[in-house]
Amino acid sequence: MKVLITGGAGFIGSHLTEYLLDRGDAVTVLDDLSTGQLDNLSRAFDNPALSFHQGSILDADLVRRLAADADVVFHLAAALGVYTILEDPLGSLKTNLVGTEVVLDAARESQCRILVASTSEIYGKNTTIGLHEDADRVMGSPLKTRWSYAEAKALDETLTHIFREWHGLRAVLVRLFNTVGPRQTGRYGMVVPRFVGQALAGEPLTVHGSGEQTRCFAHVAEVVPALVRLVEHPAAQHGIFNLGNSRQISIEQLARTVIEVLGSTSDIVHVPYEEAYGPGYEDMQRRVPDCSRARELIGFSPTLDVEYIIQSVATAARTERSDVAVLAG
Ligand SMILES: NC(=O)c1ccc[n+]([C@@H]2O[C@H](COP(=O)([O-])OP(=O)(O)OC[C@H]3O[C@@H](n4cnc5c(N)ncnc54)[C@H](O)[C@@H]3O)[C@@H](O)[C@H]2O)c1
Repeated sequence: MKVLITGGAGFIGSHLTEYLLDRGDAVTVLDDLSTGQLDNLSRAFDNPALSFHQGSILDADLVRRLAADADVVFHLAAALGVYTILEDPLGSLKTNLVGTEVVLDAARESQCRILVASTSEIYGKNTTIGLHEDADRVMGSPLKTRWSYAEAKALDETLTHIFREWHGLRAVLVRLFNTVGPRQTGRYGMVVPRFVGQALAGEPLTVHGSGEQTRCFAHVAEVVPALVRLVEHPAAQHGIFNLGNSRQISIEQLARTVIEVLGSTSDIVHVPYEEAYGPGYEDMQRRVPDCSRARELIGFSPTLDVEYIIQSVATAARTERSDVAVLAG
């Protein structure tokens, strides 16, 4: 396949790039390196089948030119991470709304297939255990900036739906739940790399809020092949799929597990949400996916547990010591 990956120098995008190059596909990466970095592609750069373009998905001419040659587009580029959204709400909205429209339009014009990465954030404060793709959204006020990422991603889904229904675009939508692994940075608010970086540096692990809120973490190595299987599966076209691990862990327990697995002497400190993210910040208590749709179609059934995930993030950070600072954020 000839593949275009927007956001291919990011955390998930760089793993996807390597996966596709390893099986013989030709990969073009478009990334503005805002949260991604060239280092993420250091292993891939030796491969002549990789072509890298530094630029923005807001550059319609560039995106159209790159998509014209592609059989498949993986649209992963986005402004994400709580700190990114809170620090530049307008720029983030523009990337996540206008940028996605640009990419969808380019895919329509080139008549290639596309996978659009959405997020479990669109479920908002719905705490159902086993969120199905048809579950309702329970959103906070649109005046709370924190929800603007979820609102933009939800509109991306609507845009994708419109392009599918009215323009015949062959598009798969994927709602990713927390995905973790080497190269994810804690700088923008992601909790696992932040805790691992803090534990390796011997600093206190900062748990936001009570720590009773739970999350589910999937390893990127199990998510990336599922993205590829979905984009290639004829029955997945026009579908929407949750991808994530359904085992819950509280953030307090996650902090304790990081300390235990890494044999760290760090303490745990609690930081109120207001202090971490400003007044009026809202979080969700729980987010557990129901991935039966992806399991039935492509056999998606992640098995890597949180202890393995922590080890894998820490091992990558230890081999590249400078990552510890990056991880901690
Ligand atoms: N990691 C997760 O847990 C998670 C969960 C839900 C959804 N997602 C989605 O998966 C996708 C990839 O996320 P990630 O975790 O790899 O994050 P990431 O920040 O590492 O990757 C995003 C990439 O997009 C690039 N980018 C941002 N704005 C751009 C622009 N205007 N033009 C070109 N490139 C731009 C960044 O430089 C970065 O390389 C995103 O769409 C995200 O919303 C991720």
